[in-house]
Amino acid sequence: MTASALIPAAGRGERFGKGSNKVFAEIAGKPILAHTLSVFESCDAIGEIIIVTGEREIQAAGDLVGRFGFAKVRAIVPGGAQRQDSVNLGLAHVTNDIVAIHDAARPMVTCDIIDRSIAAARLMGACIAAVPVIDTIKSGSSLQLGEGLGERACVAATIDRSNLYAVQTPQTFRMDLLRRAYERAYADGIYATDDAALIERLGERVAIVEGSYDNIKITTPSDVELASMKLGGGEQRTGLGFDVHVLVEGRKLILGGIEIPFEKGLLGHSDADVLVHAIMDALLGAAALGDIGRHFPDSDPAYKGISSMKLLSHVNALLSQQGWRVTNIDAVLMCERPKIAPFVQDMIRGVAECLSTDLSRISIKGTTTEKLGFTGRGEGIACQAVATLYRP
Ligand code: CTP
Ligand code: MG
Repeated sequence: MTASALIPAAGRGERFGKGSNKVFAEIAGKPILAHTLSVFESCDAIGEIIIVTGEREIQAAGDLVGRFGFAKVRAIVPGGAQRQDSVNLGLAHVTNDIVAIHDAARPMVTCDIIDRSIAAARLMGACIAAVPVIDTIKSGSSLQLGEGLGERACVAATIDRSNLYAVQTPQTFRMDLLRRAYERAYADGIYATDDAALIERLGERVAIVEGSYDNIKITTPSDVELASMKLGGGEQRTGLGFDVHVLVEGRKLILGGIEIPFEKGLLGHSDADVLVHAIMDALLGAAALGDIGRHFPDSDPAYKGISSMKLLSHVNALLSQQGWRVTNIDAVLMCERPKIAPFVQDMIRGVAECLSTDLSRISIKGTTTEKLGFTGRGEGIACQAVATLYRP
């Protein structure tokens, strides 16, 4: 015997602030509603899905169901002014004796949670998924702007949180019990903040099963970042950089932003920091943003003698604008002399700071080429770098 899923998706998403129903907003390249439906679709315990959505969104919800091929969706019906009204309207279409009611706005629910809640509802008649409250909870009221420090703006009490739960969905019920609870609520003109409260009013017991701290309700735009990481839709890209500069007398040797004592230095329009140039080309390459020749042409006098670390900051700003973050960089300097090792930690520190990332994400090392080639003869220094970027 399978259970029904009832998915209220008829809100207006006011706190989400996009001027439209948030459940159609995309996270990781897929609408929130589609993420939620995928979980129920893949759950063997669920036999049918009823979606309740806005009157003007029935078509959009139908298109979404078709596009993702959700075969268990049996009805898409218009909701009401309050969530409770939406659920009430959806209940008329439920054909099983158990219903799992789950907010469309909680896309990180799992099959395990759904299974647990159905099992408990079969046993007990009613069940909520919930997690123990983590924060210390106090009662009182907080200071309002422009109000003096008064009696009202204080803590009244610290509440024992050992038996307090933050309530989520699914909330799962035997249909006969839930129908009775809804009929009574409407007869009494009661609106509650969740479905279980209507059962509690009848004096019936509601079981608690373990939800998950990830099973958040997407409410404000700041919830999207966490969810997109969990829902795994991020994009990862890798780029390659390579550069060579000639060693000459009468120039400073700058590598990774560090001045290295040596009898020669690298020749170039900027400070000729071959390491930073290779890193920038790898970063720009990963983001498909061209190369340093395009962004900082050596025909431009603005870049004459400029510190390449400044250019690296500029590249970092370009990447951030497009939402990229550095996963890691690995670079190898090919150079017979001088020895690079004593300076590597300082180089890593500077590059990491410039890219506003952790030291652990940057690797820089040196190698000789066994006296072979132009690097082996000390005519120049070459550098190769790879960079991987992540965008949620
Ligand atoms: N919901 C519904 N019918 C309503 C109100 C809400 O079906 N009249 C649904 C929402 O679509 C959501 C779930 O109930 O999936 C939880 O509601 P909430 O997170 O409050 O969503 P919104 O009401 O859309 O958001 P807001 O309160 O910020 O406007
Ligand atoms: Mg709401």
